[in-house]
Amino acid sequence: MQNIDSKNKYTGINTATRLAGLLGHPVGHSVSPYLQNALAEKYGINMAYLGFDIAEGQLENAVKGGLAMNAIGFNVTVPYKKDVMKLLAGVDPAAEKIGAVNTLKLEPDGYHGYNTDMPGFGRALDYAGISVKDRNVVMIGAGGAANAVLCALLEKGAGNILIVNRSLDKADALAGRFRDSYPDSRIYTAALLNTNLNTNSAESGLNKEPDYLEIMSGISGDKWIAIQCTSVGMFPKVDMAPINDENFYEQLEAAYDIIFNPEETQFLKKAREHGAKISNGLGMLMFQGIRSFEIWNGLKVSDDIAEELLEGMQEAVKER
Ligand code: ATR
Repeated sequence: MQNIDSKNKYTGINTATRLAGLLGHPVGHSVSPYLQNALAEKYGINMAYLGFDIAEGQLENAVKGGLAMNAIGFNVTVPYKKDVMKLLAGVDPAAEKIGAVNTLKLEPDGYHGYNTDMPGFGRALDYAGISVKDRNVVMIGAGGAANAVLCALLEKGAGNILIVNRSLDKADALAGRFRDSYPDSRIYTAALLNTNLNTNSAESGLNKEPDYLEIMSGISGDKWIAIQCTSVGMFPKVDMAPINDENFYEQLEAAYDIIFNPEETQFLKKAREHGAKISNGLGMLMFQGIRSFEIWNGLKVSDDIAEELLEGMQEAVKER
């Protein structure tokens, strides 16, 4: 008779397999199961990672269920990254600063929360060969993803940081939160006005140069690194870019878009056409997952393995 602890030859799963998974709503399009199970196989870790579509009101039950079943950890995605924080035994200080948790790790006293979007974005920048240290960086967007991006930029010692957002009050709130933790930082804000996104609007003030361009040209003659952190240009609305002004793109040396579908957004296309080095958000997606895997398993994933996985992820994104 077969030993019940031997690995199932079809799935590799046995009674010693540790459970991990993604908590979100919806989760159907996620490529995290592909990434995490590939990592587990590469590193010989007996872990199975599944997607869990958690209905509204069920998050607490899901976390308690994980505890009861001794699940090694979870990733948490939209819309639960904030709500999950109050259900945890502890929250990492960086995740607290960002105001969102995307990774839970089981400890003796319960789940502890981390934010791996921040180090994931940082490693994706390194991987793309974009150095922000002492550089001028303009970020577009002030939502959830922008929080993690700003934190990573500050940790990496970016020089001047300009946050451009459709609603200026959100950009100001984001800047205000981080100015306290990084008193030496130079964070500016401007509204995303006067772009082709709203040229049909009577108030668009077409003859006035947008504030963000004034700030950018006023700061120094150095070129800028731009990070696109909004959902504008994401599939299926692939014809849109948050900024259409050629004068903006002329000032860029490098551009990173957190969107990875399509592979090249309008934003990246325009930046590339103006000679900037470009990179899409697949690296951020992969490295945030890699960081979660590292936290759960206490190891460091090499860049060689990451490179191999990136190709597989590109395929996985296309097949979704
Ligand atoms: P995420 O967690 O993906 O960052 P979010 O928190 O909803 O999502 O933030 C979305 C970001 O995209 C915000 O910066 C939002 O601008 P506002 O703060 O003004 O809402 C920006 N955004 C979304 N749709 C936009 C559009 N059509 N034009 C410009 N900015 C847009």
